[in-house]
Amino acid sequence: MKKINCAVIGMGVGERHASFYQKFKKTNLCKIYETNKDKVRKLKKKFPEAEFVKSEQEIYKDKTIQLVSIASYDNFHCNQIIQCIKNNKYIFVEKPLCLNINELKKIKKYYEKFNSKISCNLILRGSPQFKKIYNLNLQKKLGKIFYLEGDYNYGRLRKITKGWRGKIPFYSVTCGGGVHMVDLMTWILNELPVQIKAEANRIVTKNTKFKFNDFSVAILKFKSGKIAKISSNFGCKIPHHHTLKIFGTKGTIFHEINGSNFYTSRSKKISPNFFNLKFENKNKNNILKSFVLNLIGKGKNLITFQEVVNSMLICLGIEKSFKTNKNIKIDFRKLKIS
Ligand SMILES: NC(=O)c1ccc[n+]([C@@H]2O[C@H](COP(=O)([O-])OP(=O)(O)OC[C@H]3O[C@@H](n4cnc5c(N)ncnc54)[C@H](O)[C@@H]3O)[C@@H](O)[C@H]2O)c1
Repeated sequence: MKKINCAVIGMGVGERHASFYQKFKKTNLCKIYETNKDKVRKLKKKFPEAEFVKSEQEIYKDKTIQLVSIASYDNFHCNQIIQCIKNNKYIFVEKPLCLNINELKKIKKYYEKFNSKISCNLILRGSPQFKKIYNLNLQKKLGKIFYLEGDYNYGRLRKITKGWRGKIPFYSVTCGGGVHMVDLMTWILNELPVQIKAEANRIVTKNTKFKFNDFSVAILKFKSGKIAKISSNFGCKIPHHHTLKIFGTKGTIFHEINGSNFYTSRSKKISPNFFNLKFENKNKNNILKSFVLNLIGKGKNLITFQEVVNSMLICLGIEKSFKTNKNIKIDFRKLKIS
């Protein structure tokens, strides 16, 4: 089987995609588009086989390029995705897929028209720790789940007060961070919420140039009766981490900054089972690797386009709820948030 020819747009976290394409036996790293010229100068040594192009059009118009990683700022994703679709490229995009419901509808329309293939780097699903938690649920070790909590604790305040996230026309901490927790929870539960109610604030960044909410919290209700709480906490004073708590009839998981405790008893005398599987750099390409292998007919794409759309809709539903102070319902098929 011939190798897939790849290109990368944006070389922050995109550098990880480029390294993967350069090393992986099924891919060639052919072209890179990065707008920061100083960065380009430094990166040329690291990626000697790639051509650093002067415009993104040089990627779209190159018929030999089959797969494009989009890792630019969030506000460029929608247009770049559509350009890629129109030029018959496969797309691996960094989260968030896009900024708002209109962009989401546009992407879906082109995706269907061109029968495209898109996945998104919702990276936590590739983490051994969360895979183990997912499997505990699959093996019915938790019993019937009735409540979950997920917190995306960013701990990188400077990135929103000083970096591009505070400068683009719109930045959502829910779509940009909380989306990871939304994806994890809907994956573990294999169920979508029927109702969302959310609140948000901007206390931590009040006297900074960041003009959007830096904290949001939402309650999600599911048809089965389960309830979940999801927060996107960008102002927290704690190192970057995610917490995930799952309460089931047979057991409880508390995944926190130092690892997970799995409790199967109400007694204080019985210690929980502790596990902390490292999320090594090599695992951080698990989602991308599954997408590439799926493109060549080997294995399952870990995150489908529909799943990416579902997570975006939930995040946009959370945004709409705190903006309108209303309970929100989502039609996942028609892409309606009301
Ligand atoms: N999956 C994850 O866990 C994860 C982690 C970090 C960032 N991200 C996402 O990746 C994207 C980039 O974030 P980052 O942290 O790497 O930012 P970054 O600032 O570190 O890097 C972004 C790079 O892209 C370049 N760039 C921006 N717009 C461009 C464009 N239109 N064309 C070409 N180059 C462009 C910038 O010059 C910069 O070098 C964002 O959408 C972000 O949400 C995802």
